[in-house]
Amino acid sequence: MGREQLILLSSREIAKMRQAGRLAAALLDHLAPMVKPGVSTLELNDEAERWTKAHGAKSAPLGYEIPKGKFPFPKSICTSVNEVICHGIPSAKQILKDGDIINIDVTPIVDGYHGDTSRTFFVGTPSPLAKKLVEVTQECLMRGIAAVKPGGRIGDIGAAIQEYAEAHGFSVVRDFVGHGVNRVFHGPPQIPHYGTRGKGKLIRPGMVFTIEPMINEGSWEAELQSDKWTALTKDRKLSAQFEHTIAVTKDGVEILTLP
Ligand code: MF3
Ligand code: CO
Ligand code: CO
Repeated sequence: MGREQLILLSSREIAKMRQAGRLAAALLDHLAPMVKPGVSTLELNDEAERWTKAHGAKSAPLGYEIPKGKFPFPKSICTSVNEVICHGIPSAKQILKDGDIINIDVTPIVDGYHGDTSRTFFVGTPSPLAKKLVEVTQECLMRGIAAVKPGGRIGDIGAAIQEYAEAHGFSVVRDFVGHGVNRVFHGPPQIPHYGTRGKGKLIRPGMVFTIEPMINEGSWEAELQSDKWTALTKDRKLSAQFEHTIAVTKDGVEILTLP
């Protein structure tokens, strides 16, 4: 990320992003009822792959290599359970159980454009703490989006998120950030989910990027598993995440990843 130029999208290109975003949201809606105790994360992956193809789209994560990385992502979606922060790899061995939380992150490519969105779901009945963490994380995303205004600064977004997360006693992951998204999966600008109001790049109409706060129950520190993808909390406490792809408009913001 960061080697390409930051690009501003035309309204025609934003219309393409809207199509991809809408399919991404519809895919999460489609998977949601499958999230139950006893289902494996591989079953979620396989249904996502089938559904994506059936809708004429392609799964961006499958075979994706973070520039410079040498381990292509082996599956079509990311499934991040409990202490996994992000980039969990679906597996037949991972069976969801009552009380788990699972983030499902999907990115179909439609006509060359990426729709990137994720939600954290409850498996069965959550503990009060898990419920609070997930609700706070979703509100962090919405407050981050509300902070997007042409003429504002990228730091406004992280400040809004960090303030709300920390007020509830949670922490904001530093190692992963939101990103520009268009024909390229991960491009500039980077969108940290922490920061200072008034700092950072100017927010301009035509910018399209993700906001995807990862909020931890305990400390923000992350650790990479030996598969080189799965990121988990260092203290093994819970982590939740929600993500939307948004476009900056003349007078505000449009969420592109709504059904
Ligand atoms: N969808 C993730 C994001 O929000 C990226 C996944 S990269 C993958 O940026 F290779 F792990 F799929
Ligand atoms: Co993303
Ligand atoms: Co994503």
